[in-house]
Amino acid sequence: MSTLLIKNIGRLQTPVGSHSHKGSQQGENLKLNHAAMLVEDGLIKEITADGALPQADADVVIDAEGNLVTPGLVEGHTHLVFGGYRQGEIPLKLKGAGYLDILKAGGGILDTVQKTREASEKELCEKSEGFLNEMLRLGVTTCEAKSGYGLDLETEVKMLEVVKKLNQRHPIDLVSTFLGAHAVPPEYKGKGDAYIQLMCDTVIPYVKEHDLAEFCDVFCEDSVFDVAQSRTYLECAKAHGFGLKIHADEIEEIGGSQLAGELNAISAEHLIAIGEKGMNAMAKGGTTAMLLPATSFYLGKNFAPARQMIEKGIPVALASDFNPGSCPSLNLQFVINLGYLKYQMTPEEILTAVTINPACAIGRGDQVGTLEVGKQADFVIWDAPDMEMLCYRFGSNLALQVIKKGEMV
Ligand code: NIG
Ligand code: FE
Repeated sequence: MSTLLIKNIGRLQTPVGSHSHKGSQQGENLKLNHAAMLVEDGLIKEITADGALPQADADVVIDAEGNLVTPGLVEGHTHLVFGGYRQGEIPLKLKGAGYLDILKAGGGILDTVQKTREASEKELCEKSEGFLNEMLRLGVTTCEAKSGYGLDLETEVKMLEVVKKLNQRHPIDLVSTFLGAHAVPPEYKGKGDAYIQLMCDTVIPYVKEHDLAEFCDVFCEDSVFDVAQSRTYLECAKAHGFGLKIHADEIEEIGGSQLAGELNAISAEHLIAIGEKGMNAMAKGGTTAMLLPATSFYLGKNFAPARQMIEKGIPVALASDFNPGSCPSLNLQFVINLGYLKYQMTPEEILTAVTINPACAIGRGDQVGTLEVGKQADFVIWDAPDMEMLCYRFGSNLALQVIKKGEMV
């Protein structure tokens, strides 16, 4: 048995409960002052407040020096594994080329597909591991990772194998999503229906049989996959027992968020262009809004209507969308700043949106996302007295110490 005591926590702040938090609950956090936390074998054993200390002796004691402690951040949306980079797109964008224009011309996602097909599994593993190290230093302790830069069986499997291996060897817990329907590959140009059929007949069953992912995702977007194709893909995924995710209403509102609600998708992502009908469908379907404000920032787009979604009773999560095109940043602390300034969410709502809500949207709500007895001891000691400071300061890494399963990492 190994034990760890964190003492002298100025403020311990956490959402409570293993469910996704919506409406006014989104902004409810437990705040304990002068707190301490005892960890036993990687799990939270006891939490005390108001200067009281757990009775048991501990093998290791950490002094939080009066700082803020929160649950480890849960990153709910990344494209972690990819070959190459796309810095060459920026001059094109600055001259006015749109994200979809670049994709239609064979660049964008398809450029990364080519480089990912060319990369070895070892190269992808080492590169992605570097990203995970950076994330961990920034306070992330659990992370979702999507495939989607292979668009053929072999490369999609290679990407998913990378995630599986990294999950075994890296402290961050990884949750895998199969994003076979990320774009129509060059071999299927003009034959989107046939590509979706390939996914349904061959690739989705293979991913299931080899236990390579828990969720399936589709880029439902104008000139990528339409609602009918997205429905076919997701219904097939559902029939194979996958949880459903949808990149919806990122650039054009073509009905992706309505489909998400209708199919009870666990989450719909982006939602920059969502309208009333989409929001109503998501609220009814119990679908979490996975909002990606750093992508809005990087693409120079609007910011999703986060406040309206909270008011409509949609659970809101915030994630980075880390990828080589629309968001080459994995800094969830910057996402917190954007949530505050651009979505006008409160610090409490934001904490919920980067902990328990994404945890629930990737099927880990019963293990992580809150600081409660029995949960995994994943937490961060911040160089800040409160969440307000974390929301306000930007551009620095305020994570002083990250603890994963009771270990300092
Ligand atoms: O979520 N929009 C689709 N997929 C990613 C971007 C992928 C890329 O540009 O490489 C996103 O923004
Ligand atoms: Fe994405």
